[in-house]
Amino acid sequence: MVRFADRQLQGWQDEQDLNLSEAMMHLTMEIITQTVFDVDLHGDPRAQHVSRAVNTLLDEYAHQMTSAVRALMERLPVHLPVPGEGRLRKAVQELDTLILALVAERRAEGRDHGDLLSMFLDARDEDRSGMTDAQLRDELVTLFLAGHETTANALTWSFFLLSQHSEVEAKLHAEVLDVLGGRLPTVQDLPHLTYTGQIVKEVLRLYPPVWWLSREPQADWHCDDVLVPAGAEVGISPWVMHRDAGFYPEPLAFQPERWTPEFEAGLPRYAYFPFGGGPRLCIGNNFALLEAALVMATIAQRFHVEVPEPHRVTPDPSLTLRPKGGLRVRLHERKEKA
Ligand code: HEM
Repeated sequence: MVRFADRQLQGWQDEQDLNLSEAMMHLTMEIITQTVFDVDLHGDPRAQHVSRAVNTLLDEYAHQMTSAVRALMERLPVHLPVPGEGRLRKAVQELDTLILALVAERRAEGRDHGDLLSMFLDARDEDRSGMTDAQLRDELVTLFLAGHETTANALTWSFFLLSQHSEVEAKLHAEVLDVLGGRLPTVQDLPHLTYTGQIVKEVLRLYPPVWWLSREPQADWHCDDVLVPAGAEVGISPWVMHRDAGFYPEPLAFQPERWTPEFEAGLPRYAYFPFGGGPRLCIGNNFALLEAALVMATIAQRFHVEVPEPHRVTPDPSLTLRPKGGLRVRLHERKEKA
C-alpha cells in the first residue's frame, strides 16, 4: 500500500492542480489488483482496459439503480439493471475476459503468488473439489469492485475535510512527523498513529462511502406501530444515522477527537456502521482501515492539499458517495521535513 502511494507521490509536484478523486481511485485500484491478482497495473497495457470497463460498469449500474429508486418513489414500473444491455454487457464481458485469462494463466503455472487468487485456487470444499472458473470470477470481481472505489472515496473525503479544518490538519501533520520523522510508514507504526486513526473514523462517520444499504425482513416485523411485511425492502442509511444528534453531539462538526475508547464503548450497536453489519459485514473492513491510515499518513507527510473551490463540492449519492464531478485540489509540497 505504502509503496504504491509513494510511487504516486513521485509524480506529484508543488503547486500542481489535480483531480484527487481520480488519483485516489487509481491508487486503490493498483493496491487491490496487487493484493488479489499479484499484478502491478503500473505501465501494464491491461490497466486502461480494466479501468475503462470498471468505470462503465459502475456508472451504468449506478445510473440504472438511481432510475430504479426514482421509479419506486414515483410508483412507476421498475427497470432493474440487466447485464444484457449495450454498454453494461460489453463492460462485463471485457472484465470477464481479462479475469478468466488471468485464472487460466495461473492454473497452468501452478505457483503460489501469495495473493488472494492463489488462496482461492488452493481452497477445497468438503468434497475436496476446488472452485470453478465461474465461482472464481464472481469472487474476484466482487473483491475487486468492492475493494477500491469505497476506500478511494474515504481518502478523497478525508483530504476535503482536512482542507477545511486547518487545526485538524496541523495536528495530523505533527503526529505523522513525530512518529515517522520523514520516513515511510509501516504497519508497525499504526498503533502510534492514533490521531490518524481517529480522523479515518470521523471521515467514515460524516461521509460514509456506502451511504445506503438495504435488508429484507424474512417475517413480518412490527417497528413500533408500523408493520414492515416480510420481503419488503428496508433502506438503512449510515449517512442518516451517523448525523443523528441523539448519538453524536454537534453531529455536523468534524471532530476526530470525539473517537475516544469511552465514546465508542458507549455508542449503541448500529449508531455507527460504515461497514454494514451482521453476516454481510464488509469483509475488507480491516484492510480498508489499514489502507486509509497508511495512505493518509504517507500523503499528509509530504503534501498539504488545498481545495480552491470548497463551495463547489457536493456529495453525489451514487452507488457510493463521491464528490460530484471529482475533487479538484491544488498540491503544496511541505518544506518542513523532520
Ligand atoms: C472504506 C472502505 C469500505 C467501506 C466503507 C465498505 C463498506 C461496505 C459495506 C457497508 C458492506 C455491506 C453491504 C451490505 O450489507 O449490503 C460491504 C461489503 C463488502 N465489502 Fe466493503 N467496504 C470498504 C472496503 C472494502 C475493501 C477494501 C474490500 C476488499 C478488500 C471490501 C470488500 C467487501 C465485500 C467482498 C463485501 C461483501 C461481503 C458479503 O456480502 O459477504 N470492502 N462493504
